[in-house]
Amino acid sequence: MCGIIAVIQKKGQVAPFLHQALKRLEYRGYDSVGITTISEDQLFTKKDKGKIDEVHKKLNLDNLPGSIGIGHTRWATHGIPSLYNSHPHFDCYEKIAVVHNGVIDNFLELRKKLLKKGHTFGSETDTEVIPHMIEDEMKSGSSLKEAIKNVTERIEGTYAIVAMSIHEPDKIICTRNGNPLVIGKKEGTSYVSSDIPAFLPMTNSMILLLDGEIATLTTDDVRIEKLSDGSVIERDTIKISWTASQAQKGGFPHFMLKEIHEQPDAIKQTLRIRPEMFVKAANTIQEANRVYFLAMGTSGHSAMAGRYMFASSSGIVPSFELASDFTDIMYDSISEDDCIIAITQSGETTDTITSVKYAKEHGAKIIAITNVVGSSITRIADHTIITQAGPEIGVAATKTLMVQLAALAQLSIHTGQITEFRTNEFLMRMRENLEEVPDKISNIIAIEEEKARRLARIYYNKPSFLFLGRGISISTAFEGALKLKEISYNHAEGYSAGESKHGPIALVEKGYPVIFVAPKDSTHGRIIGNVMEMKSRGAEIISVIEESDSDLLELSDHAFQIPSGIRHEFSPMAYVVPLQLFSYYMARRNGYDPDKPRNLAKSVTVL
Ligand code: F6R
Repeated sequence: MCGIIAVIQKKGQVAPFLHQALKRLEYRGYDSVGITTISEDQLFTKKDKGKIDEVHKKLNLDNLPGSIGIGHTRWATHGIPSLYNSHPHFDCYEKIAVVHNGVIDNFLELRKKLLKKGHTFGSETDTEVIPHMIEDEMKSGSSLKEAIKNVTERIEGTYAIVAMSIHEPDKIICTRNGNPLVIGKKEGTSYVSSDIPAFLPMTNSMILLLDGEIATLTTDDVRIEKLSDGSVIERDTIKISWTASQAQKGGFPHFMLKEIHEQPDAIKQTLRIRPEMFVKAANTIQEANRVYFLAMGTSGHSAMAGRYMFASSSGIVPSFELASDFTDIMYDSISEDDCIIAITQSGETTDTITSVKYAKEHGAKIIAITNVVGSSITRIADHTIITQAGPEIGVAATKTLMVQLAALAQLSIHTGQITEFRTNEFLMRMRENLEEVPDKISNIIAIEEEKARRLARIYYNKPSFLFLGRGISISTAFEGALKLKEISYNHAEGYSAGESKHGPIALVEKGYPVIFVAPKDSTHGRIIGNVMEMKSRGAEIISVIEESDSDLLELSDHAFQIPSGIRHEFSPMAYVVPLQLFSYYMARRNGYDPDKPRNLAKSVTVL
């Protein structure tokens, strides 16, 4: 949450670059935006509430002098979105500028102390205590770096902090605890950001900054030190394979639509991950006493589907727990005999990181499935599987779900080889079937996109929807409902079709839309029964069915049709696609920007 970018270059204005970089980070927060630069011993700032384009139109964000600057796009935690709460924040004399992502838990106490000392505050944010504390430290003779180091000893909470000062206009200082920061380097310029796509058009050379470290960026150098003892850390530069064009819309009106279309390729890339990456993790799973999936949101829906994949191929049935509640459920019962499979596309979700750290402290083995190299989860996990979706910019997860499912499918097959629950031939057939999924998804997009657009024209103003499925398709029903509510704001509930008659059916009256996810698997007969129950109460039935399914076709008012031949373990990958498209066109039809749903951010780094 919140996007940070800072750059220091030898010459030329940095503001236009900062503005563009913030656009690439807008998925991290978009309720306000700000840029500060240094030129001729002065700070220059433009900031306000609103989306970047709106603020730029009003203020012209490009028109700031100087070749060093910081920028921020905000997702409000402390203080409403407003000009005054927008970052950057300053000390009393506007000599120090700070941007921050995270939450300073003890800010009230610190703020009171600073007010007593005579500091004046311009915002309600927790962030603003930081520049004022730096001001005090620098007044007593500390350098900017020492000042920030001392401040970190007194603040509690999670943070990524980037600061600069006119007293030392040749450097940017940054540090982190629990919130991401990555450094980018090319000749004569240094960058630091909360996410790689911000500087991707300029460089794909990245240096990780870890919790408890502080970095000094100059035009020629990046120096990383441990906060605890000041020792210098030599860290190699990593070349990342993501390209700048992957982080652009490429002719599509929205990132979300582009990312839906990229799914077949993203799966193909993920199917190319070397088998060794899975084998170690599979051994750990097989040796464990209990296996838990931990995840949130869409990643939780891949976990739900993953349970069925594992059960079918390996005989191991992992539990799935919401990461946000795991510690409350487990008390101290987790142990070194247990294994956690943490699924998080960003690798930064605080709920997931917190519960994984707790499990690790209790000795459990940690397997991470994430899309971001070097993200926080990768540094906690014993084994990491990096999915190959490339950068996902749309806030609503689409292609990252797909690659998580592809990775889980492979991990479950590898685990099956070790447990010998199935024959090799069975597992080989699974793998062959998995290889066919990307082309089938290409077909679905080609044929069903127009139908999704048409159905959105019919249903856009329905206030409420039920999404139902059975077995593995419950996960798809949940995901369909989540996508619809998060980007189109129609109320939607995902439910087990079996459970639907135990309560939700009370919602159904004439014309109420019920969406069934209904592949022709072992649940098919029972799903037909549930469709009948809904129909006889006047529901309008929209179904996602196999193309050969004439029974359900006949019972449905509208149907998305999925090519035959996809094994039930992989059906969520195919059956979710029309629902992603439906949500996308519903959002557009309702006049919302599908890439930037209100109140949401791409990585949720608060508890
Ligand atoms: C929904 C969505 C969120 C995320 C959730 C977990 O479209 O994107 O529900 O799935 O915030 O995020 P990660 O996977 O980054 O841990």
